[in-house]
Amino acid sequence: METRLAIASRRETRRYDARPLPNDTIERILEAGRLAGSASNRQPWRFVVVEDEEVRARVAECVFEPGNVRGAALVVAVVVSGKGPLAFDAGRAAQNMLLSAHDEGVGGSPNGMPDPERVGGLLGLEEGERPVIVLTFGYPARARRDPGSRTPEEWSERAHRLPLAELVRRV
Ligand SMILES: Cc1cc2nc3c(=O)[nH]c(=O)nc-3n(C[C@H](O)[C@H](O)[C@H](O)COP(=O)(O)O)c2cc1C
Repeated sequence: METRLAIASRRETRRYDARPLPNDTIERILEAGRLAGSASNRQPWRFVVVEDEEVRARVAECVFEPGNVRGAALVVAVVVSGKGPLAFDAGRAAQNMLLSAHDEGVGGSPNGMPDPERVGGLLGLEEGERPVIVLTFGYPARARRDPGSRTPEEWSERAHRLPLAELVRRV
Protein backbone atom coordinates (compact mmCIF):
# COMPACT_ATOMS: atom_id res chain seq x y z
CA MET A 1 0.00 0.00 0.00
CA GLU A 2 1.21 3.49 -0.78
CA THR A 3 2.47 5.19 2.40
CA ARG A 4 0.16 8.21 2.30
CA LEU A 5 -2.87 6.00 1.71
CA ALA A 6 -1.80 3.72 4.58
CA ILE A 7 -1.45 6.66 6.96
CA ALA A 8 -4.72 8.29 5.91
CA SER A 9 -6.87 5.16 5.85
CA ARG A 10 -5.74 3.59 9.10
CA ARG A 11 -8.11 3.59 12.09
CA GLU A 12 -7.93 1.61 15.30
CA THR A 13 -9.56 -1.82 15.14
CA ARG A 14 -10.63 -3.24 18.48
CA ARG A 15 -12.80 -6.20 17.58
CA TYR A 16 -11.17 -9.18 15.91
CA ASP A 17 -12.39 -12.41 14.40
CA ALA A 18 -11.14 -15.79 15.62
CA ARG A 19 -8.65 -16.47 12.83
CA PRO A 20 -5.04 -16.73 13.97
CA LEU A 21 -2.43 -14.61 12.24
CA PRO A 22 0.12 -16.45 10.08
CA ASN A 23 3.57 -16.59 11.64
CA ASP A 24 5.15 -14.64 8.79
CA THR A 25 2.62 -11.83 9.28
CA ILE A 26 3.51 -11.72 12.98
CA GLU A 27 7.19 -11.64 12.08
CA ARG A 28 6.67 -8.73 9.69
CA ILE A 29 4.75 -6.76 12.32
CA LEU A 30 7.53 -7.28 14.88
CA GLU A 31 10.18 -6.54 12.25
CA ALA A 32 8.49 -3.19 11.53
CA GLY A 33 8.88 -2.33 15.21
CA ARG A 34 12.51 -3.40 15.17
CA LEU A 35 13.26 -1.06 12.27
CA ALA A 36 11.99 2.09 13.98
CA GLY A 37 14.47 4.84 14.67
CA SER A 38 15.22 5.85 18.25
CA ALA A 39 17.27 8.49 20.05
CA SER A 40 20.97 7.76 19.43
CA ASN A 41 19.78 4.48 17.94
CA ARG A 42 19.54 3.10 21.50
CA GLN A 43 16.53 0.92 20.66
CA PRO A 44 15.35 1.10 24.26
CA TRP A 45 12.43 -1.23 23.60
CA ARG A 46 11.67 -4.90 23.92
CA PHE A 47 8.54 -6.43 22.40
CA VAL A 48 6.88 -8.90 24.75
CA VAL A 49 4.54 -11.21 22.84
CA VAL A 50 1.94 -12.48 25.28
CA GLU A 51 1.24 -16.08 24.28
CA ASP A 52 0.43 -17.75 27.58
CA GLU A 53 -3.36 -17.89 28.02
CA GLU A 54 -3.24 -17.34 31.76
CA VAL A 55 -0.93 -14.33 31.46
CA ARG A 56 -3.05 -12.92 28.66
CA ALA A 57 -6.21 -13.22 30.76
CA ARG A 58 -4.52 -11.34 33.60
CA VAL A 59 -3.10 -8.66 31.29
CA ALA A 60 -6.62 -8.18 29.88
CA GLU A 61 -7.79 -7.26 33.38
CA CYS A 62 -5.10 -4.56 33.57
CA VAL A 63 -5.93 -2.53 30.44
CA PHE A 64 -8.75 -0.01 30.01
CA GLU A 65 -10.55 -2.19 27.46
CA PRO A 66 -10.15 -5.87 28.47
CA GLY A 67 -12.13 -7.07 25.44
CA ASN A 68 -9.42 -5.75 23.10
CA VAL A 69 -6.88 -8.15 24.62
CA ARG A 70 -9.25 -11.09 25.09
CA GLY A 71 -10.28 -11.11 21.44
CA ALA A 72 -6.88 -10.43 19.90
CA ALA A 73 -4.87 -12.85 17.77
CA LEU A 74 -1.63 -11.15 18.78
CA VAL A 75 -0.80 -9.17 21.91
CA VAL A 76 2.48 -7.26 22.05
CA ALA A 77 3.57 -5.21 25.03
CA VAL A 78 6.15 -2.55 24.16
CA VAL A 79 8.45 -2.23 27.15
CA VAL A 80 11.29 0.24 27.59
CA SER A 81 14.28 0.76 29.84
CA GLY A 82 17.09 3.27 30.27
CA LYS A 83 17.18 6.99 29.62
CA GLY A 84 16.06 9.30 26.85
CA PRO A 85 12.75 10.09 25.18
CA LEU A 86 11.43 6.60 25.90
CA ALA A 87 7.74 7.24 25.25
CA PHE A 88 8.58 8.88 21.93
CA ASP A 89 10.81 5.98 20.90
CA ALA A 90 8.19 3.42 21.93
CA GLY A 91 5.55 5.34 20.00
CA ARG A 92 7.59 5.17 16.81
CA ALA A 93 8.03 1.40 17.14
CA ALA A 94 4.35 0.94 17.97
CA GLN A 95 3.12 2.99 15.02
CA ASN A 96 5.44 1.09 12.68
CA MET A 97 3.89 -2.18 13.87
CA LEU A 98 0.32 -0.85 13.55
CA LEU A 99 0.95 0.46 10.03
CA SER A 100 2.67 -2.75 8.95
CA ALA A 101 -0.34 -4.72 10.18
CA HIS A 102 -2.72 -2.39 8.34
CA ASP A 103 -0.72 -2.92 5.16
CA GLU A 104 -1.70 -6.58 5.19
CA GLY A 105 -5.29 -6.25 6.31
CA VAL A 106 -4.67 -6.79 10.01
CA GLY A 107 -6.34 -4.43 12.45
CA GLY A 108 -4.82 -3.21 15.66
CA SER A 109 -5.08 -0.82 18.56
CA PRO A 110 -2.91 0.60 21.32
CA ASN A 111 -4.15 -0.16 24.83
CA GLY A 112 -3.34 1.98 27.82
CA MET A 113 -3.21 0.69 31.38
CA PRO A 114 -3.84 2.44 34.71
CA ASP A 115 -1.11 0.53 36.55
CA PRO A 116 1.91 -0.26 34.33
CA GLU A 117 3.81 -1.74 37.29
CA ARG A 118 1.19 -4.42 37.71
CA VAL A 119 1.43 -5.30 34.02
CA GLY A 120 5.22 -5.35 34.31
CA GLY A 121 4.90 -7.94 37.08
CA LEU A 122 2.69 -10.15 34.93
CA LEU A 123 5.13 -9.94 32.01
CA GLY A 124 8.11 -10.95 34.14
CA LEU A 125 10.07 -7.86 33.13
CA GLU A 126 13.72 -7.39 33.97
CA GLU A 127 15.01 -4.77 36.41
CA GLY A 128 14.39 -1.25 35.06
CA GLU A 129 11.98 -2.30 32.34
CA ARG A 130 8.46 -0.91 32.21
CA PRO A 131 5.56 -1.32 29.77
CA VAL A 132 4.52 1.73 27.76
CA ILE A 133 1.63 0.30 25.74
CA VAL A 134 -0.07 -3.00 24.96
CA LEU A 135 -0.78 -3.49 21.26
CA THR A 136 -3.57 -5.80 20.13
CA PHE A 137 -3.87 -7.17 16.62
CA GLY A 138 -6.17 -9.42 14.61
CA TYR A 139 -8.25 -9.66 11.49
CA PRO A 140 -11.14 -7.20 11.85
CA ALA A 141 -14.40 -8.78 13.07
CA ARG A 142 -16.36 -6.59 10.66
CA ALA A 143 -15.28 -6.52 7.04
CA ARG A 144 -13.06 -3.49 6.92
CA ARG A 145 -13.46 -0.87 4.23
CA ASP A 146 -10.89 -1.40 1.49
CA PRO A 147 -8.26 1.35 1.90
CA GLY A 148 -8.14 1.64 -1.89
CA SER A 149 -11.84 2.50 -2.06
CA ARG A 150 -11.02 6.13 -1.20
CA THR A 151 -8.22 8.51 -1.92
CA PRO A 152 -5.94 9.69 0.90
CA GLU A 153 -7.74 13.05 0.72
CA GLU A 154 -11.13 11.37 1.17
CA TRP A 155 -9.88 9.32 4.13
CA SER A 156 -8.38 12.46 5.58
CA GLU A 157 -11.70 14.33 5.37
CA ARG A 158 -13.42 11.53 7.26
CA ALA A 159 -10.84 11.31 10.03
CA HIS A 160 -11.87 12.82 13.35
CA ARG A 161 -8.83 15.01 13.65
CA LEU A 162 -8.25 18.67 14.34
CA PRO A 163 -7.68 20.74 11.20
CA LEU A 164 -4.15 21.82 10.40
CA ALA A 165 -5.26 25.43 10.87
CA GLU A 166 -5.62 24.63 14.59
CA LEU A 167 -2.57 22.43 14.88
CA VAL A 168 0.09 24.38 13.08
CA ARG A 169 1.72 27.56 14.29
CA ARG A 170 4.36 29.34 12.34
CA VAL A 171 6.99 31.39 14.10
C1 LIG B 1 -1.19 6.15 24.22
C2 LIG B 1 -2.50 5.62 23.69
C3 LIG B 1 -3.32 4.87 24.52
C4 LIG B 1 -4.52 4.36 24.04
N1 LIG B 1 -5.27 3.58 24.85
C5 LIG B 1 -6.38 3.01 24.37
C6 LIG B 1 -7.13 2.14 25.20
O1 LIG B 1 -6.79 1.91 26.36
N2 LIG B 1 -8.22 1.52 24.67
C7 LIG B 1 -8.60 1.77 23.38
O2 LIG B 1 -9.59 1.17 22.95
N3 LIG B 1 -7.92 2.62 22.57
C8 LIG B 1 -6.82 3.23 23.03
N4 LIG B 1 -6.10 4.08 22.23
C9 LIG B 1 -6.56 4.38 20.86
C10 LIG B 1 -7.14 5.82 20.73
O3 LIG B 1 -8.40 5.87 21.36
C11 LIG B 1 -7.22 6.16 19.23
O4 LIG B 1 -5.90 6.28 18.74
C12 LIG B 1 -7.96 7.44 18.89
O5 LIG B 1 -9.25 7.46 19.45
C13 LIG B 1 -8.06 7.62 17.38
O6 LIG B 1 -8.76 6.52 16.84
P1 LIG B 1 -8.95 6.34 15.24
O7 LIG B 1 -7.57 6.31 14.64
O8 LIG B 1 -9.67 5.05 15.06
O9 LIG B 1 -9.72 7.54 14.77
C14 LIG B 1 -4.91 4.62 22.70
C15 LIG B 1 -4.09 5.38 21.88
C16 LIG B 1 -2.89 5.87 22.36
C17 LIG B 1 -2.01 6.69 21.44
